[in-house]
Amino acid sequence: MFASLRILALTLLFPLGHASLPLVINTWPFRNATAAAWSALNSGGSVLDAVERGCARCEVEQCDGTVGYGGSPDESGETTLDALIMNGDTMEVGAVADLRRIKNAIGVARAVMELTDHTMLVGESASVFAENMGFTAEDLTTDKSMNIFSQWLKGDCQPNYRKNVIPDPSKSCGPYKARTAVNQNKRVTHLNTRSHDTIGQFKIQPDITWDSPIVGAGAYADSSAGAAAATGDGDVMMRFLPSYLAVELMRAGADPSEACRTAISRIKRHYSDFFGAIICANTTGHYGAACNKVSGLPQFHFMVSNSESVTPLLKSVDCF
Ligand SMILES: *[C@@H]1O[C@H](CO)[C@@H](O)[C@H](O)[C@H]1NC(C)=O
Ligand SMILES: *[C@@H]1O[C@H](CO)[C@@H](O)[C@H](O)[C@H]1NC(C)=O
Repeated sequence: MFASLRILALTLLFPLGHASLPLVINTWPFRNATAAAWSALNSGGSVLDAVERGCARCEVEQCDGTVGYGGSPDESGETTLDALIMNGDTMEVGAVADLRRIKNAIGVARAVMELTDHTMLVGESASVFAENMGFTAEDLTTDKSMNIFSQWLKGDCQPNYRKNVIPDPSKSCGPYKARTAVNQNKRVTHLNTRSHDTIGQFKIQPDITWDSPIVGAGAYADSSAGAAAATGDGDVMMRFLPSYLAVELMRAGADPSEACRTAISRIKRHYSDFFGAIICANTTGHYGAACNKVSGLPQFHFMVSNSESVTPLLKSVDCF
């Protein structure tokens, strides 16, 4: 069985039965997440248990300061979480986005998959569902996230995610109006709706990336073809479904590294300086990774555990 999941850190796992299987692989050098997933698998846990355990470890440890509670807040000062999990045998998916008050986002994503008819729950609906299912509601704010937030307010709300508005969003906290407001009523409505959609999801720290909890973008798994997971600028990457693309390329016979490269190339064509990376694994446990070369990302690091290396190994790939 293949399962795939993400929250900035992400794990893909595969079944026993082949020399290099099972495989645990996750984005970023989050060694403890890899080890937690591996140990769950070895103590008789299912693939989904292992994936959940690996990610939960990162949520607790606040891997890199970007995963989990106390992470970069949104424009109201609140930290919200996203998570996605997929079962590559059944093609079931559970995702949460803009989840508030609950630390165990990956646990909630799994509950969405196993205990509801839905694929994704967002915002307050996701939080109410989680509370209803017995997840602990608590404040995700920390001194660090409050500090980031107050610095941001002091710095005239810079950076922020707006474009095509007046006054200049690079100088103010708003309120804003669509720049085309006077002439193009139809377009204005469209712009307003769109910008509203992203409220609360945009994280205000520029150096911290936002993965996508959208299936096919952030991660994808199909036990008959392979699995992939992406990390980076989720807003750009979700336009290309890179994880879905990579899995389909592997289904058609592409080597995992080549599938990963093609998925990145597709995005580069339109966004040459986007920040992003992807890891790919096929059904025989071969894996690869690729990333877009930008300043600050000359190489991408990821972790692997398999039967040849029970201790998590740090791997890297040169970005292109
Ligand atoms: C990883 O786990 C070890 C042992 O539990 C712990 O000492 C260490 O702080 C963890 N690493 C991180 C980055 O949290
Ligand atoms: C997985 O990728 C490896 C490396 O390219 C390749 O040798 C192997 O045949 C692939 N497995 C499948 C099932 O396509």
